[in-house]
Amino acid sequence: MKILVVGLGSIGMRHARNFKTLGVEQLIGCDLLEERRQKFSSEINGDIVSTLEKGLYKKPDLVVVASPNRFHLEQAKTSARNGCHLFIEKPVSHTLEGLDDLITLVDEKSLFAHIGSKWKFHPAFKTMKKIINEGSLGKITGAQVIAGQWLPDWHPWEDYRNMYSAKKDQAGGIVLDSHEFDYLTWLLGPISKVSGYTAHTGALDIETEDIAVACMQFESGVL
Ligand SMILES: NC(=O)c1ccc[n+]([C@@H]2O[C@H](COP(=O)([O-])OP(=O)(O)OC[C@H]3O[C@@H](n4cnc5c(N)ncnc54)[C@H](O)[C@@H]3O)[C@@H](O)[C@H]2O)c1
Repeated sequence: MKILVVGLGSIGMRHARNFKTLGVEQLIGCDLLEERRQKFSSEINGDIVSTLEKGLYKKPDLVVVASPNRFHLEQAKTSARNGCHLFIEKPVSHTLEGLDDLITLVDEKSLFAHIGSKWKFHPAFKTMKKIINEGSLGKITGAQVIAGQWLPDWHPWEDYRNMYSAKKDQAGGIVLDSHEFDYLTWLLGPISKVSGYTAHTGALDIETEDIAVACMQFESGVL
């Protein structure tokens, strides 16, 4: 199998290392930054390219979209048009506009597409799912999630103010970190109503929101 990894930052390199460990022989790395491409080349020993288009020219079977949020949808659609299976890092998109086109492309070309929302594979979350499904807790009527992280700890090797999550033009911000919405719908079913607030408290020197609250009603009635 030939795999093209687009975006050779924290998670892109982690995927590349995992593929290498799993024995994938043909790995291609794509990044805008020369220094990231060189790191991939020396560590993974794969081909390197500076654009997605150059990578697609090498006819990969699978494209891993691990670039900043802003680019996910367009890069996924371009890759799907070229007949590549997809692993798209979360969030699949920063906007609903154009998302249906991706779904249609994937269907029409019978492609495999997976979103990197990984918590569903964690043993603790699998246990929660099992307990809920078995019904031993009775009917679930409400759920509360409090999630928080300190952004400067995410990538200690770089200035957090320059990270994609700090930047509006890269569709950063905590809402699009999105894991909570993903595992809550997995555990409790589809959401029917949502309202919320986001704020920029100034605790961090970033352009995007640094705190958010969402109030959701699920189709099952759970609040
Ligand atoms: N599933 C998870 O748990 C998980 C964990 C971390 C990150 N992510 C997601 O992965 C994505 C990347 O996160 P990260 O922490 O690796 O960020 P990062 O900043 O470390 O890496 C992003 C890389 O993409 C490159 N890049 C920027 N624009 C590009 C373009 N147009 N084409 C190709 N490369 C481009 C950058 O130069 C950088 O090297 C984000 O969307 C994030 O939400 C998911």
